[in-house]
Amino acid sequence: MAIKRQVIEDSEIRRQEEICARIFARVAAGGARPLALVDTYGCQQNEADSEKLRGYLAEMGYGFTSDEFEADVIVVNTCAVREHAEMRVLGNVGALNHTKKARPGQIIAVCGCMVQQPHMAEKLKKSYPVVDLVFGPHELWRFPELLERVMTKHKRVFAADKSDGVVAEGIPQRRDGSVKAWLSVMYGCNNFCTYCVVPYVRGRERSRLPEDILAEARQLVEAGYKDITLLGQNVNSYGKDLGGGTDFADLIRLINDIPGEFRIRFMTSHPKDATEKLFRTMAECEKCCRQLHLPVQSGSDRILKRMNRSYDREKYLGLVALARQYMPELVLTTDIIVGFPDETEEDFADTLSLCEAVRFDAMFTFIYSKRVGTPAASMPDPYTRADKQRHFDQLTELSNRISGEKHREYEGRTLRVLIDGETGREGYNLSSRTDGGRLVHLSGDPALIGQFADVTITASNTWALYGEIRNSEFGIRNWENDS
Ligand code: 5AD
Ligand code: SF4
Repeated sequence: MAIKRQVIEDSEIRRQEEICARIFARVAAGGARPLALVDTYGCQQNEADSEKLRGYLAEMGYGFTSDEFEADVIVVNTCAVREHAEMRVLGNVGALNHTKKARPGQIIAVCGCMVQQPHMAEKLKKSYPVVDLVFGPHELWRFPELLERVMTKHKRVFAADKSDGVVAEGIPQRRDGSVKAWLSVMYGCNNFCTYCVVPYVRGRERSRLPEDILAEARQLVEAGYKDITLLGQNVNSYGKDLGGGTDFADLIRLINDIPGEFRIRFMTSHPKDATEKLFRTMAECEKCCRQLHLPVQSGSDRILKRMNRSYDREKYLGLVALARQYMPELVLTTDIIVGFPDETEEDFADTLSLCEAVRFDAMFTFIYSKRVGTPAASMPDPYTRADKQRHFDQLTELSNRISGEKHREYEGRTLRVLIDGETGREGYNLSSRTDGGRLVHLSGDPALIGQFADVTITASNTWALYGEIRNSEFGIRNWENDS
């Protein structure tokens, strides 16, 4: 079935920018520079959305703070994937009563996936009077308009568009760093895995046009970004809604062709849509990292079926073998849910054996969390929380053991890394990433941030590698001797 893409007109975004200018004049009249705080929960897509919220706020004249007592506007960008994240949001929003009392006139907005669920929007409306503005992900493009309404009408505003979602280009962005950047290539999800709330809150799959993505990628490279992560709930179905001209592999190749020294990563890939063409393209594109996040969720065919994942264990293992054939050095990570309704000891044993067989470089493991309105929420589940916790601990132990063993294999090797930040720790004061995305701690001059360097791995543990810089673009340099 063809999905109609609802594209927000440029003129609408220009109108939002005019509203930003009006708010600028309004807040500038108050004297001191106003401050905003954007607090982000959840996935990278939310991080990318928060960069847009900050982009708009910067156009309105706001500076940024991490202290809620200092903020004139607080935006809490929420996640709905698991109950734990929602509980944290509700706890933290409740605590804002104190800051609002101490700072009358403070505006508190809650946005993102959690509030797209009607029961959660209702809860905020009824039980959290401290909240002035609530808006879902499909409304982000008109944040200035909604904020202005709160400022001028002095009323609470609730906006949750029930549509399948929109594509909006040209929203200003204020990116967090200067080395790594998120680049959304598509929004939404059509897969309806039975445990997952994302398709209900983020709408149907909508791809951005290749030319818009390429223009943004070129800008990022020109601005000096060295590590670009292409984002989408399921990047492997990129382009299907556009009529099938450019698929995700084609998109990687187009971005790879942009001149400059930078890396391309992407997430997340659904195994049902990962193709040989994708692996071949990754292997052929020198800027594309040999890194694949391929969530398996379970190793049991019975559970995969109940999850509506559309692949089985054999197909998954076949994909891994194929990907490794094209890229023997591939770094492979995954997501796994423990304790899906009615997951038996036998099902769990299948998950353990799959993990032993694949030997993931890292595993992100979650205890199943019941989500309102999803099919799994009404599946019988005879197992206790203690059963699930026991399996979770067992899987974590396995995951840590394998990650530690894989990390030890790096010791003595010399690899190219991108130095991306400071750790704030003495000794190993810099952080960097290998092509495969593994974290490497280094000691060196902070001026090296944003540079590629060859490093020799000298030590490792479960979570990270430790290395020594051999040479960087500055040549061999030992900062202790520099002064
Ligand atoms: N409970 C636990 N984990 C979940 N995930 C998605 N929905 C749920 C849920 N209801 C996990 C999946 C997904 C990752 C982003 O979050 O493993 O890949
Ligand atoms: Fe959720 Fe499945 Fe879509 Fe991923 S592919 S966002 S797990 S429904």
